[in-house]
Amino acid sequence: MATGEEIPSIALDAVLKKSSSLPKDKELVKGYDFNDGIDYDALLRSYKTSGFQATNFGLAVEEINKMIACRKKLLLNKDVLETDPFIQRKHHCTIFLGYTSNMASAGIRDTIRFLVQHKMVDCVVTSAGGVEEDLIKCLAPTIIGKFSLDGATLRESGVNRIGNLLVPNENYCQFENWVVPILDELLEEQKAKNIIWSPSKVITRLGEKIANPESICYWAAKNEIPIFSPALTDGSLGDMIYFHSYRNPGLVIDLVQDIRRVNSIAVKAENSGMIIIGGGVVKHHICNSNLMRNGADYSVYINTANEFDGSDSGARPDEAVSWGKIKKTATPVKVYADATLVFPLIVAQTFAASYHESKNHVKNETS
Ligand SMILES: NC(=O)c1ccc[n+]([C@@H]2O[C@H](COP(=O)([O-])OP(=O)(O)OC[C@H]3O[C@@H](n4cnc5c(N)ncnc54)[C@H](O)[C@@H]3O)[C@@H](O)[C@H]2O)c1
Repeated sequence: MATGEEIPSIALDAVLKKSSSLPKDKELVKGYDFNDGIDYDALLRSYKTSGFQATNFGLAVEEINKMIACRKKLLLNKDVLETDPFIQRKHHCTIFLGYTSNMASAGIRDTIRFLVQHKMVDCVVTSAGGVEEDLIKCLAPTIIGKFSLDGATLRESGVNRIGNLLVPNENYCQFENWVVPILDELLEEQKAKNIIWSPSKVITRLGEKIANPESICYWAAKNEIPIFSPALTDGSLGDMIYFHSYRNPGLVIDLVQDIRRVNSIAVKAENSGMIIIGGGVVKHHICNSNLMRNGADYSVYINTANEFDGSDSGARPDEAVSWGKIKKTATPVKVYADATLVFPLIVAQTFAASYHESKNHVKNETS
């Protein structure tokens, strides 16, 4: 029953404030309709219009597909004077891939191996664990455990925990047996042939020696893709190098060669794309090398870090624009997510789709 009282106009105006007209070409929010069956490609394509991190996922797919399209364009300006095949410009878009160590511990290692195996990236940056976990998996497996397993009990049984993954100490013993003779060899070559090693050159040698097609390092060495790891000693590799420095001292691993190599890749790039999984050194190292060319053309960050603490890990792409590490005109994307959930899906919608499309294309043409 009406009370005869008027609705206060201040409240009415506040709640029903008139909208100015929105641009006509705006995308509408829409999710996937499971009445259409279970079509994973359509489901992932629907993410872009779903909102929040699903939309960022869709934008990341678009950004990486732009890198791939640019990379496929004919490279007219050949880098003929470069004598180091690992840093020679090979494509119209040079793609940098960075990932934290835990990605090699997790199954993301296999996704990254696919990218390196099929020469879909040109320059890799990872931390020490990203190298050794890849190699150790060729010697002994990493096991699925639980986040909740008790640390003291695991220590008693000689088992190490990485999140909900378990690595028995025995794996590191096997790694020591495998890697120490290689360190001896490196030292021998340093003395006999005056070779000065750098982290990326050591990693190439380890990749050649592991000779296992499940390994990222193996394919990187075979395909002449450099893997940079400026903090190579911060992991089991560092433990081995430390022990080795007592048993057979003298090995020198030079960082200067590598900063020259990684920055040269960026400087030479016609166009450059950055795909960075996680934060810390791997994120900054790629961004910093792209500063040398006044910024990357394409960028995708996937990480869980936030910017409120001023960390480089949490810095959004816009912060990198302020430093000249991403171009002002670029359309960079950051996906806030656990990469183990989203990275294989992003690869499915980009590199893997492109790979299988061209494979089918070749098959159809030859059949
Ligand atoms: N398996 C291992 O993690 C391992 C093994 C040996 C050595 N280490 C050493 O530990 C040091 C620190 O490791 P780091 O620099 O590789 O990175 P980190 O593990 O310290 O991670 C850096 C940041 O990346 C982001 N990140 C990490 N995992 C993520 C995920 N699953 N999804 C989205 N974002 C994620 C987070 O913001 C995190 O703060 C390195 O020197 C490394 O060599 C690590």
